[in-house]
Amino acid sequence: IPWGYDLWLNFEPLDDARLKDAYREAITGMYMEPVGATGQIVYRELTEGLGSMLERPLESLPAPAGMKSAEAGLLLVATWDRLPRFIREIMDRPEIPAEGFLIRQVRAGEKKHLVLTSADDAGLLYGAYRLLRLVQTHQPLDGIDLLDAPKTKLRMLNHWDNLDRTVERGYAGFSIFNWHTLPELRDPRYADYARANASVGINATAVTNVNSNALVLTAPYIRKAKALADIFRPYGIRLYLTARFSAPMEIGGLETADPLDPRVIAWWAAKAGELYAEIPDFGGFLVKANSEGQPGPQNYGRSHREGANMLADALAPYGGNVIWRAFVYSEEDPDDRAKQAYTEFAPEDGKFRENVLLQVKNGPIDFQPREPVHPLFGAMPETPMLAEFQITKEYLGFATHLVYLPRLFEEVLQTDTYREGPGSTVARVVDGSLHDKPLSGMAGVANIGTDINWTGHPFGQADWYGFGRLAWDPNLDSGDIAEEWIRATFGNNPVVVSRVQALMMRSREAVVNYMTPLGLHHIFDSSHHYGPGPWVDEHSRPEWNPVYYHQADSLGIGFDRTSTGSNAVAQYAPELAERYGDPATCPEEFLLWFHHLPWDYKLRDGHTLWEGLGLKYQEGIDTVSGMLSDWQGLKGLLPDAAYRDVEMRLGIQLQEARWWKDACMLYFQTFSGREFPEGMEPPA
Ligand code: GCU
Repeated sequence: IPWGYDLWLNFEPLDDARLKDAYREAITGMYMEPVGATGQIVYRELTEGLGSMLERPLESLPAPAGMKSAEAGLLLVATWDRLPRFIREIMDRPEIPAEGFLIRQVRAGEKKHLVLTSADDAGLLYGAYRLLRLVQTHQPLDGIDLLDAPKTKLRMLNHWDNLDRTVERGYAGFSIFNWHTLPELRDPRYADYARANASVGINATAVTNVNSNALVLTAPYIRKAKALADIFRPYGIRLYLTARFSAPMEIGGLETADPLDPRVIAWWAAKAGELYAEIPDFGGFLVKANSEGQPGPQNYGRSHREGANMLADALAPYGGNVIWRAFVYSEEDPDDRAKQAYTEFAPEDGKFRENVLLQVKNGPIDFQPREPVHPLFGAMPETPMLAEFQITKEYLGFATHLVYLPRLFEEVLQTDTYREGPGSTVARVVDGSLHDKPLSGMAGVANIGTDINWTGHPFGQADWYGFGRLAWDPNLDSGDIAEEWIRATFGNNPVVVSRVQALMMRSREAVVNYMTPLGLHHIFDSSHHYGPGPWVDEHSRPEWNPVYYHQADSLGIGFDRTSTGSNAVAQYAPELAERYGDPATCPEEFLLWFHHLPWDYKLRDGHTLWEGLGLKYQEGIDTVSGMLSDWQGLKGLLPDAAYRDVEMRLGIQLQEARWWKDACMLYFQTFSGREFPEGMEPPA
């Protein structure tokens, strides 16, 4: 039987009898009057999930009148205003933020009851999933007093899904969104998708590719989009669409898309009206403009600001947002690609409409296994920001390699930008606290497709899960998230939990080491981005060629981004600029990102740069080899189908880690002219 459709939501009966008894005592019955579509979901999830895990149907008590004489262990579920009076009387009115919840055990006389309450429907939904997870992961309920609420407003997936169901950079099958059969055919998978998102707190989704097709803004497609929005709504999810800047010409019959042209302005205003007539809570537009050949305001000599503000004005009457991507670089600009977004956007701070958010990729190039943080974080105090991460693994071995991405996300989020002095972490840009921004959050490029397990690699599920958890609270610990996910997915066997967690936690560094150690980046093959290609020099645009990034020659290797080179370091706050700008203080993981250094440059452990490079590749291989043998040690303790699938993928990963080392080290040797270091396996 194929494994994984139910993700981290398989509420299997608890196999620990003692624990099951304790939960059965804490929850003997439930009081809930399901209100509205969200209420129905909450009711169903709790009765089914708890009923299954505790192997006892949850009896639901009908009326608050009977309450006082109820047995102990009642689970009371309602937004605060709808809780039975006797409960409200014994609790102090809690301050629960929007979308937040409170799970508290209360005492009524001799009896203990469990209360799940919130200020709104979404909070109740998130609280229900949290309660289920507490039981699923064996957390105690006795004495519980758990208040939680999201730290961000926008927790969003970006699907790079085309209308023909191909997925750009997608490695888990085709798009789950079938535009051909919508709106009539509502594949149950749409609700399952929304449910999975809600269970980790994701509250927005852009279902179409950023390299967008204007067709999605025509009337028939708006009706299709409405069908999706209707399914997502009770799960607390708002739908966004990508807006092709040239749409007024392609589907509107105008001969221009100039954002200052009154006909263009009127066209977008009417389009917004049309969208909101069908989808009253439509989130807004996600826009990639003047980037990698996409149309945009610069085609008409206008700025990004002018383009974004025009769309923002169209959406403002309905409360919609424009999410404008900062991922721009131009073939006409000969400057270091890593600098272009900052150069273009930083001076525009304070000039965007209130409902424009700037969406900034985690690093200044493009989702590499490791990048320093994007210099725009913290540098635009007046502009609401979304940090963009890739959950799909375009540059990290697709769905074949095991790389636990929340570790990468955490590294970025915990980086101090120093923009407002020490402690100005990216997490504080994401949660809006650095510059007191009510609107902010995180966007993740989805790794979801039609594969039965949704993500291709079984561990891709952990990346989706972890993205949601970090978008909810960007200060969570990636190790804790891994543990939660393992318990929810593979059960609570302590041997499984600790070994799988250890394996996940070292997987990200392994990939950095066997692909792009010491700050190397963008040395991938061709346009598919799979496997090594440091020699590639065939693209017409220099910044698409790996040779542009490693700059290896007989003297050394690396990209000089200091004042003797592109001076990209100057785009960071002085503390970081200083640290990164000097090889002596630059963290070695960013060495070749910021510096071009001689092959015999001495690393901190005494090895030369050349030797260190080879040993890093080897370290990556050794880690993957350890991951594979640790996994094999778990045979019999895991669902067989998942076990075998992951074992095969780890086998491929090990082979490809060696491929990376051999290809890169043999190629770089043509410049260094040096022997391979001792301790590095010689090329096969
Ligand atoms: C990368 C990726 C593209 C994508 C682009 C983007 O360059 O390879 O497929 O369109 O990022 O983020 O817009």
